[in-house]
Amino acid sequence: MKNLILAIDTSCDETSAAVTSGRKILSNVISSQINLHKKYGGVYPALAKRAHQERIDPVIREALKRAQTEMEKIVAIAVTYGPGLAIALEVGINKAKEISSSFKKPLIGINHMEGHLYSPLAQNKNGKPKREIIFPALALLVSGGHTELVLMKNHGQYQVLGQTLDDACGEALDKAAKIIKLGYPGGPIIEKLAERTKENKYPLHPSMKQKDSLDFSYSGLKTQFLYLVQKMNQKEFNQNILQLAASFQLAAFEQLIRKTASGIKLYAPKTILCGGGVMANQRLRKDLRKLAKKNKLPIFFPPFKKLVTDNAAMIGVAAGYKLERKEFVKNLKELDREPRLSL
Ligand code: KG4
Ligand code: ZN
Repeated sequence: MKNLILAIDTSCDETSAAVTSGRKILSNVISSQINLHKKYGGVYPALAKRAHQERIDPVIREALKRAQTEMEKIVAIAVTYGPGLAIALEVGINKAKEISSSFKKPLIGINHMEGHLYSPLAQNKNGKPKREIIFPALALLVSGGHTELVLMKNHGQYQVLGQTLDDACGEALDKAAKIIKLGYPGGPIIEKLAERTKENKYPLHPSMKQKDSLDFSYSGLKTQFLYLVQKMNQKEFNQNILQLAASFQLAAFEQLIRKTASGIKLYAPKTILCGGGVMANQRLRKDLRKLAKKNKLPIFFPPFKKLVTDNAAMIGVAAGYKLERKEFVKNLKELDREPRLSL
């Protein structure tokens, strides 16, 4: 294998390192902190930082070991420098700089959302699946921190068409789960409950700010859901948890589908790419596949489970294209965390 990249991501609550070669993944080690943060119902930044510091070295060692390689064979180091939690990002950046300077390897800075965008193109070490993007591509990126519709004109060329004006879709699912007293993270729990009922017993239609734009908004939906639950007595609430989960999920996804449909109409893309933690959801995948089929468009999701939520392999795949273009960090001091970095 040539052009091996060691990639690192510590943007939120997963400490991850991977070894990639172009689009091929040789290893993808993820140490999740979900159990640490569960009792806070969300990510607790200071705890995340400490956990990243404790785990980063063993995670990198394991990534090299699983790829059956060593530092000498690595051609470049890639690291996420934003968006994300500032003190968490810093741990990965500092480690990447340290390795880059001690082993004299070039450093590549990657936008975490660019990683999610490239996740559908990742392959196993045998080069499967073989997928090709035909440009322009329309990417729908839906995670805990972001909800974005992006037009990709070529590798490395992005135009953000729409993004959330308030909460991200994953964040809204997490908050809704909290409102109905379920655990964290809420997305997968809501999916499991919603699967068990077909009803839309509580149709939710919050009024949307900027209805005609491609921007998203989830705070109105969350507020409407909160009022709905607050008005219920205990018995009604207990008997309708499945229906509440299903109705919230439906309304949350309806907005994603509607805006993606508008994006297709306005920009006539030739490929649809889907990435981010919420894409783990089978119902959402089904609805998006239906939309793509209606428009006769190929649609690609992350091909392996570990590529959906945060991971370093997707950072390595994105970095592969920057390596081809020799887009390296010129001066190590220049690379700093950018918590609000956009595409
Ligand atoms: O991409 P990700 O791991 O982290 C960020 O970069 O934010 O996304 C995490 C988000 C959480 O909000 C979580 O609730 C959501 O993805 N999520 C899901 C599912 N699995 C994770 N949402 C809906 N259905 C799922 N199966
Ligand atoms: Zn992410």
